[in-house]
Amino acid sequence: MGAINILITGGAGFIGSHVARLFVNRYPEYNIVNLDKLTYAGNLANLKDVEGKPNYTFVKADIVDIDRIREIFREYDINGVIHLAAESHVDRSIKDPFTFARTNVMGTLSLLQAAKEYWESLPEKFEGKLFYHISTDEVYGALELTHPEGVPAPFTTKASSEDNMAYGTEFFLETTKYNPHSPYSASKASSDHFVRAYNDTYGMPTLVTNCSNNYGSYQFPEKLIPLFINNIRHGKPLPVYGKGENVRDWLFVEDHGISTIRTGWTTSPPANTSTVTKRMSSN
Ligand SMILES: NC(=O)c1ccc[n+]([C@@H]2O[C@H](COP(=O)([O-])OP(=O)(O)OC[C@H]3O[C@@H](n4cnc5c(N)ncnc54)[C@H](O)[C@@H]3O)[C@@H](O)[C@H]2O)c1
Repeated sequence: MGAINILITGGAGFIGSHVARLFVNRYPEYNIVNLDKLTYAGNLANLKDVEGKPNYTFVKADIVDIDRIREIFREYDINGVIHLAAESHVDRSIKDPFTFARTNVMGTLSLLQAAKEYWESLPEKFEGKLFYHISTDEVYGALELTHPEGVPAPFTTKASSEDNMAYGTEFFLETTKYNPHSPYSASKASSDHFVRAYNDTYGMPTLVTNCSNNYGSYQFPEKLIPLFINNIRHGKPLPVYGKGENVRDWLFVEDHGISTIRTGWTTSPPANTSTVTKRMSSN
């Protein structure tokens, strides 16, 4: 087998930097190309510890720029993609949905098309290739507040004490119907459909995972956990949506990185879709 050259998009972001570090350190024989536009959310300081490694390269580029993406596939002989680059903050998507459609939909489509063209031009075509798209469980909508009969409530909150309602006893599954509600989740849902369409239409090997909320180091402070920690430290109020009854599952970002390897790089042929959730707590 030839060299394994993996393109990680959005590698300067929160989850991408953990995934990139994991691959660079665990697989010195792989070449890892981190492609990132370095928007407000990208920070190369997240990867200071690996930037000098011989199997790591950073390329500043925009995933929407298909001509540049085509060049990158050729230049680095890319045979695997882990696609994380995205506009990822729901509140920003409400103010500026076009930027989300541009990056998350058109950017994903550019990557898919560039991968298809390059891989189809090779003698072995799609053999040994993988386009792994990291998506979100927000494409499924909201988890219900549920309390199945006969199951004791694990805890109550002020908001729920009246009817002793337990929170978050249900999960999203791979078979759950898509039901996006925000411009962010609509753009991610659309990108998921394009990835599946490239699998169905052209036979391109793809994998989509729809993970729950991640937490851990290097997260931009606009997201819930770092925002709350920051606000608590500075004595500011904690903004809660509605009555605070939203249900969230939490996945430790380094566990997500490990699952990326397990689901994407050790399964052959890869499953076409997979929902990654580690149940930590719900609020
Ligand atoms: N953070 C979560 O809890 C969570 C949960 C589920 C799914 N996801 C998905 O995981 C992926 C990564 O999320 P994150 O929280 O690390 O995001 P993030 O916002 O921290 O990082 C996104 C990265 O993408 C880069 N980027 C943005 N637009 C780009 C473009 N046009 N071209 C190239 N690079 C671009 C940014 O510079 C940044 O480095 C996203 O696709 C997101 O939808 C995140």
